Amino acid sequence: MPATVTVTIPATTANLGPGFDCLGLALGLYNEVTLAAAPAGAYPNDLHITIHGEGAGRLPGDARNLVAQAAARIFAHLGHSPAGLHITQHNRIPVGSGLGSSAAAVLGGMLAANALVDGGLSQAEILRLAAAMEGHPDNVVPAGLGGLVLINQAADGQLHVEPIPLPPQQVVIVLPDFDLPTATARAALPRQVPLADAIFNAGRLALLVRALAAGDYQRLPLAMQDRLHQPYRLPLIPGMAAAFAAAYAAGAAGVALSGAGPSLLAFAPDNHQAIAAAIQAAFAPAGLPSRAWILPVDAQGAQVGHAPT
Ligand code: HSE
Repeated sequence: MPATVTVTIPATTANLGPGFDCLGLALGLYNEVTLAAAPAGAYPNDLHITIHGEGAGRLPGDARNLVAQAAARIFAHLGHSPAGLHITQHNRIPVGSGLGSSAAAVLGGMLAANALVDGGLSQAEILRLAAAMEGHPDNVVPAGLGGLVLINQAADGQLHVEPIPLPPQQVVIVLPDFDLPTATARAALPRQVPLADAIFNAGRLALLVRALAAGDYQRLPLAMQDRLHQPYRLPLIPGMAAAFAAAYAAGAAGVALSGAGPSLLAFAPDNHQAIAAAIQAAFAPAGLPSRAWILPVDAQGAQVGHAPT
């Protein structure tokens, strides 16, 4: 049994416009989760959590912590747990941003827990457990596998996962300083949509997958249109509609809300810095400061490393 396991998990952007709840992309921005086994009595409640970076001082440092909960679920599933546990999180994925920080915490905790006790669970089994716990396979699955992934849930609940190879590229991410819980962004959606909107999205999603796989930026302005979630969510975020327009005006080929927001994603063949600056400037009149990243696509997914015992 290794004494320490470190897992690196990428950020993810879900939906990419028309792929609501079924398409996700891994990004080159990473959290690290380290689990170290400890003897009984080493810590109060046999759990000690240290958090660095994003969410430090804000995320819970006790059994409510998502990494701790995910690890506990795997230990319970396996019927095998270390006596004590020290969790160290090095977070670079901003919390509550639409960039998959919860998926990274759940998947990181589960992968590390399985490795720490030599649990032998397959990656597919852990992805299934993580998706069930986190609730968003369109974040969890690309975080595990890397790259662009299409996820379809069959009637029996099985996840059918289709990785779509992409050319290497960079994307723009901008995160306005605005609190939009996923539950609020989901509550804004209608329970039913017109047939015309469903047809609109089906065609765009098929085109988007094909365009991204081919590196065909010219098709993205059409392919990234959406009528299922963005029309209802954009008005919740001050300056977001202006930010979309500014991104296109600065040369973006496709723009989407990242997951449920409030961050936004732009694809472009070049001029990434200028596009990021234009988006940030568009949020300013709404009184929202913002942060921007130019990120590569992550092609590897979560990586599990064992420290020597
Ligand atoms: N597909 C989900 C949503 C992802 O848009 O609500 C949340 O990250």
